[in-house]
Amino acid sequence: MKTILITGCSSGIGLHCATQLKHQGYRVFATARKPEDVRKLKSQGFESHQLDLDDSDSIQKAVAWVFELTGGQLDALFNNGAYGQPGAVEDLTRDVLRQQLETNLLGWLELTNLVIPAMRQHNSGRLIMNSSVLGLISMKYRGAYNCSKYALEGLTDTLRQELKGSGIHVSLIEPGPIESDFRKNAYAAFLRNINTDVSAHKSVYLAVKQRLSNQNAGEEPPLFTLSADAVFKKLKQALESPRPKARYYVTVPTYLFGILKRVLSTRWLDYLLVKVAEGENKQ
Ligand SMILES: NC(=O)c1ccc[n+]([C@@H]2O[C@H](COP(=O)([O-])OP(=O)(O)OC[C@H]3O[C@@H](n4cnc5c(N)ncnc54)[C@H](OP(=O)(O)O)[C@@H]3O)[C@@H](O)[C@H]2O)c1
Repeated sequence: MKTILITGCSSGIGLHCATQLKHQGYRVFATARKPEDVRKLKSQGFESHQLDLDDSDSIQKAVAWVFELTGGQLDALFNNGAYGQPGAVEDLTRDVLRQQLETNLLGWLELTNLVIPAMRQHNSGRLIMNSSVLGLISMKYRGAYNCSKYALEGLTDTLRQELKGSGIHVSLIEPGPIESDFRKNAYAAFLRNINTDVSAHKSVYLAVKQRLSNQNAGEEPPLFTLSADAVFKKLKQALESPRPKARYYVTVPTYLFGILKRVLSTRWLDYLLVKVAEGENKQ
């Protein structure tokens, strides 16, 4: 039985992948940030433990728990738990950006580094990072999230090179957009952390609020949105392929922008991406 530790299993992609892998015979260690979600996961039959990516102590305890259950072995880690902090770059405080990087980058690094030694000992392992199309291209009002996913891409590319020959494979999954609680949680972070009243972007923020709250109220998701199962299919490939890819694209926008980034100049790519953002936030 293969073992896998997954972060961010309270909802969305993490919960779906944990459920599917469990059905398919994996031993899944499904972690969540909040104790009530850990209780819920346990009641659904998961082996579950709290893991808050913002808290080193919580990360260390979760890893110790896994190793106690497995005798120090782990076949795979799916780094997944994260959130999106919307807002124009000029409206991000140092603390707000730091918080985004704590969760989406530094927690992932700490967790990854805690499991690598055990994987090295067994000359095998899979480290799989749930990145984003926004780790490949940048969009207005997503600077903090872009920053966290670009940094993840850079760190992961380096790690893959450093682990070559160790038996540990490193892959990035590039989703976006996917049905989940992501937009609901991003909206909450927007309301919590961005001072819209004094911003030069005030009028656009009204449209951003409208868009995010409409989506939360059950309106149509963005074009080309896929279910979490599309991510699960790529995760399975990254877990089971004898030669896993460095990057797994998931949705049409990811394939499209992956190509456009290679063929267009930055000026043209900017032009296109600004048009996309304007279309999204029309008032
Ligand atoms: N949905 C998309 O369109 C999309 C597109 C591209 C990439 N992604 C990536 O997919 C991954 C999963 O997101 P999702 O779409 O499934 O969104 P989601 O439904 O909002 O799930 C995010 C998960 O991350 C957890 N999380 C947030 N902060 C955490 C922390 N400090 N410690 C531990 N867990 C934390 C959340 O827990 P709480 O419930 O406790 O907040 C939740 O379980 C993320 O890495 C995201 O960047 C999503």
